[in-house]
Amino acid sequence: MFNGKRLILGVTGGIAAYKAVELCRLLVKAGAGVRVVMTAAAGRFVTPLTFQTTSGNRVYQDLFAANEEYSVAHVGLAQETDLLVIAPATANCLGKIAAGIADDLLTTLVLAARSPVLLAPAMNEAMWDSAQVRANVARLAGLGFFFAGPADGELACGGAGHGRMASPEEIFAAAGDILLQPQKWRGKRVLVTAGPTREALDPVRFLTNRSSGRMGYALARAASEQGAAVTLVSGPVSLPPPAGVEVIRVTAAQEMLEAVLQRFHETDVVFKAAAVADFRPAVESGQKIKKSGELTLTLLKNPDILAELGRRKKQQLLVGFAAETENVGMYARGKLSAKNLDLIVANDLTQEGAGFDVDTNIVQLIFRDGTIKSLPILSKLEVARAILGELRQKYFDVPGEIVYET
Ligand code: PMT
Repeated sequence: MFNGKRLILGVTGGIAAYKAVELCRLLVKAGAGVRVVMTAAAGRFVTPLTFQTTSGNRVYQDLFAANEEYSVAHVGLAQETDLLVIAPATANCLGKIAAGIADDLLTTLVLAARSPVLLAPAMNEAMWDSAQVRANVARLAGLGFFFAGPADGELACGGAGHGRMASPEEIFAAAGDILLQPQKWRGKRVLVTAGPTREALDPVRFLTNRSSGRMGYALARAASEQGAAVTLVSGPVSLPPPAGVEVIRVTAAQEMLEAVLQRFHETDVVFKAAAVADFRPAVESGQKIKKSGELTLTLLKNPDILAELGRRKKQQLLVGFAAETENVGMYARGKLSAKNLDLIVANDLTQEGAGFDVDTNIVQLIFRDGTIKSLPILSKLEVARAILGELRQKYFDVPGEIVYET
């Protein structure tokens, strides 16, 4: 399954370090080449010999050790890696990575790595809930780090709670999700809208909103990575186009409507992550409006693109987004039924790390059949992958069929 994949398993100093031995065994058994990097504190819990025996490779511990394999160990190791897994990742380790500190081989390796990094936090519940750790986790999620766990259960400090390291099997599965993007969207034609629209007032001014396009771009990227043919209708944003995705650039809501309607008949699933301006100036002045006294604007209602798709839809699945500041569930459900959607993704804009112009999101998925799934704070790419996974499971999955890219 992991044949040819090169992994680094970073082990930091927590009691869960002994479970990293089982994780190492699972990875090696699946065919991965595993190199273990231990912090000094990790060596207090498990000996390097244990990992050397389990991985079949020498264990790396010292940033300054003379190394016959690489002239600069952290650069050499980092360059030869498909995935870096840190299990357990202590609060100290998360804090250092979030701050960009590189004071040992493992944290230096994280900075040098170009591969994805999967973190499996393990700590006491109060530490996990502390404001510092919450902020570090939010920052890391926003920077694109992946997380497995933590889980609920017995804690080493006594009692039970949240903070226990995810099981080796769960971390192994999370590594598989990253390394082997399931190609379950192959054959599906996906249309994504992203970003704001701009409604011109005069040649230099317009009405718009704070959408950065990140949520929609993440969806386009994730769907494309999983094999879908993706068209992205994008409002004005400053993001690079995702690889392999057809990008159609539009400015105003009316243009977005036209671009979307043109492709709708040949689309299987539409994700409307764009924040379409609800109103536009009744008159667009041909000349720059002069600053003389007060200005009263008359605004006209823009077409509701998603509602129009809801009216026209045949076999297509429609996914809307709802950005709300109060009664999130109620308003989102209202839009789900008014616009004839199959799923609405509700962002609660009052929560830090959710909604407009941030790297992370906190969303609730509300399906047409009433099923609700709440996701924790995740990077927008992880949110996108979760949405695709849930939708696929509900509508497309053939039981037992797993299609992996090799
Ligand atoms: O772009 P980011 O900075 O990453 O931020 C992401 C996001 C917050 C913009 C995104 O997650 C999101 O919630 N997008 C929808 C925001 C919004 O406009 O919500 P709404 O409640 O006004 O609209 C509901 C749905 O109808 C949306 O799917 C919207 O695209 C669609 N709509 C709305 C108005 C309109 N005239 N036409 C539409 O199609």
